[in-house]
Amino acid sequence: MRNYTRKTRWTWMRSYAHTLASLTLAGPHTESQALSTATLIALTRIMVCTETQKLHLIIRRKKRKNTVDSDLFFHLSSWLSIRIKEFVVIHNGIITNYKELKEYLITKGYEFESETDTEVIPKLIKYVYDNRENDSVTFSTLVERVIKQLEGAFALVFKSRHFPGEAVSTRRGSPLLIGVRSEHELSTENIPIQYNSAHFKEGVQEKNSHNRLDGSTAINSVGDGRAVEYYFASDASAIIEHTNKVLYMEDDDIAVVTGGKLSIHRLKRQVGEDPVRAIQTLQMELQQIMKGNFEAFMQKEIFEQPESVVNTMRGRICFDSNTVILGGLKDHLKEIKRCKRLIVIGCGTSFHAAVATRQILEELTELPVMVELASDFLDRNTPVFRDDVCFFISQSGETADTLMALRYCKNHGALTVGITNTVGSSICRETDCGVHVNAGPEIGVASTKAYTSQFVALVMFALMMSEDRLSLQPRRLEIINGFRVLPELIKKVLSLDEKIRAIANELYQQKSLLVMGRGFNYATCLEGALKIKEITYMHSEGILAGELKHGPLALVDKDMPVIMIIMKDACYTKCQNALQQVTARSGRPIIICCQDDPEMTKNAYQTIELPHIVDCLQGILTVIPLQLLSFHLAVLRGYDVDFPRNLAKSVTVE
Ligand code: G6P
Repeated sequence: MRNYTRKTRWTWMRSYAHTLASLTLAGPHTESQALSTATLIALTRIMVCTETQKLHLIIRRKKRKNTVDSDLFFHLSSWLSIRIKEFVVIHNGIITNYKELKEYLITKGYEFESETDTEVIPKLIKYVYDNRENDSVTFSTLVERVIKQLEGAFALVFKSRHFPGEAVSTRRGSPLLIGVRSEHELSTENIPIQYNSAHFKEGVQEKNSHNRLDGSTAINSVGDGRAVEYYFASDASAIIEHTNKVLYMEDDDIAVVTGGKLSIHRLKRQVGEDPVRAIQTLQMELQQIMKGNFEAFMQKEIFEQPESVVNTMRGRICFDSNTVILGGLKDHLKEIKRCKRLIVIGCGTSFHAAVATRQILEELTELPVMVELASDFLDRNTPVFRDDVCFFISQSGETADTLMALRYCKNHGALTVGITNTVGSSICRETDCGVHVNAGPEIGVASTKAYTSQFVALVMFALMMSEDRLSLQPRRLEIINGFRVLPELIKKVLSLDEKIRAIANELYQQKSLLVMGRGFNYATCLEGALKIKEITYMHSEGILAGELKHGPLALVDKDMPVIMIIMKDACYTKCQNALQQVTARSGRPIIICCQDDPEMTKNAYQTIELPHIVDCLQGILTVIPLQLLSFHLAVLRGYDVDFPRNLAKSVTVE
């Protein structure tokens, strides 16, 4: 029998961490003093910092048109005394049983002033507080009682005037980390962990319990009474300007900050759980999350791609020996090679990275490769077997659907592999092994550099799998040579920015935009169309050119803007056919094509000419004009490029 015992943890090559998630600030308990939750729901990043008695709420606001990104600092201590009578709760996630809780609380005389799920939490804690058995009940005990009633996903931070100078936080299903800033040196691995059970188990004092979580009574604590600041956030980029020391909380951890000390305990003990929560040092630099001279984070991230793809390859591709080693996978390579099928799962852009690389994965691994949208994969209860290897692609590492698909595959005994951009994320922690794509923090909601880095990582995996296949060596060499020149060619594509802006100028008032292509460039059509709809709110569709005559052709006329991707690869002739069909219906295509292709220049309304690279990497180059186009269209249409309406960077709910 094969041994399926696997390590549940794996190390990333580098430790970048970043996830953006919206946090919602709940209204305070008292009815007459409700916060404007509507305003606060629009916020993109919130963090809370306690400084002994003071609590600052630092809010990074959405960039509005003609305004600069700004941090708003609310001094909650004064704000609390003016506006908060009892409890304040900050919530990221969704409470699925909020209706039942609300109905119950209404029967107890509570009145609600919003339709938000979050509002039940401060009301519930107030109810639990009013019904406490005695006055010695601690704040964290109240929080424990509240979260036992909650279903869904949440990261929560609680404050109350009944417990001055104290903040309690917890999570289940939504990301939460704590930043620690101190005047004195904090070691990343040897934090002085003290045992202090006073928060949750009255009367029990234990000693000598360093580095131990002992069921419901264990505590990690840091801070020795000297000034230590703690920041609660859903992602590290929100706090990097204050500290690079972070501690990632696990589901059902309860963190208490009081008297300058942080302690953590858990609701239940689980077999094999890590006994410590180590404080890690982030490699992320502040400058990485600043916009510099760019108008938007998305624009900056598009222009970072020559470097971000290098960071994905660094230390992994050896151009002298033409070998590829992915450190996070090498211990599992034998097992992966024995598998019967690869399943690559993701959502949104990450799913497109799977579509983009499917063909080369099939070619170099000679395995059947399924690419799956996580939500659909789960809806279908897709059969998964112990000899499957399942890849989970996620920039944030926190996408709820992808995470649930991961747990599903794990339960079915498959080997799970994470491809993420976020160290310490849930997907990184829960997969058996994986690859960190090292693209650096991505702030813009519309993913750009993470996509090209995921693309690179998946092709590198295909190369690693085929290292010992003699017949595949010429193909491998061709691809490795492609990687060698990729950064320079990306720069060349980026130099077309002005031309693309001019095209955007012609298109920005249109309602619709079709993007057509096939083969290695089909994923570019899907991804380009997604970029356009995400940030420009234009209707856009990525169309497989092979399907043109099965429906989409009906949309084509002289007024419908069409972008076609026609590169000199195995699909060239078929794409030319599609082009003829479009021009025969008076379509005026903008063609993304190879340099020096007179055939295209002749038939196109406009061309965007790109340098040539090996076919399976061409999609990295063809997507960039569409990233740029969507950016310029959004700017011209007057929209917030980085924070499109209704969308979140990290979707931590189903
Ligand atoms: C959200 C984002 C997309 C992203 C998708 C998957 O919808 O707006 O840009 O592609 O989530 O996110 P992940 O972090 O799993 O790659």
